[in-house]
Amino acid sequence: MENPAQWPEHPAAPAPGQRLIALAEIPDGQGREVVLPAPEGGKPLRLMVLRVGDTARAYVNACRHFGVPLNVRPDHPFVDPGDGSIVCQVHYARYAVEDGRCLGGDCEDRGLAPVPVCVRDGQVCVAAMPGRPPP
Ligand code: FES
Repeated sequence: MENPAQWPEHPAAPAPGQRLIALAEIPDGQGREVVLPAPEGGKPLRLMVLRVGDTARAYVNACRHFGVPLNVRPDHPFVDPGDGSIVCQVHYARYAVEDGRCLGGDCEDRGLAPVPVCVRDGQVCVAAMPGRPPP
């Protein structure tokens, strides 16, 4: 998947309504990685899910610099508590939590690929995507 925005075409792409993680598993203001296994041993789809109070945001876990995951550990919180931005641990590009836009560094105006999510009964789930039927 060269372009992270093409995630809906990934073999492991979650369907609208699919549960990703319990909101309570993510400390407020931080994120957690969710790895969705691909069928038949293919490459998994790696997402980051970020908690903002009672809401959540999600992005494909692929830095727009080299296309690699932003975290170096599975439990990495993704968000810098100093300025509240998402930070890539490879070369420290920074992205905005609210919309994934590049804030500085080697992302050079290329933002993270968003995955629409909602919180339902305490679970972060994939939301309806434009042009597709609701869950
Ligand atoms: S790979 Fe993320 S900043 Fe270089």
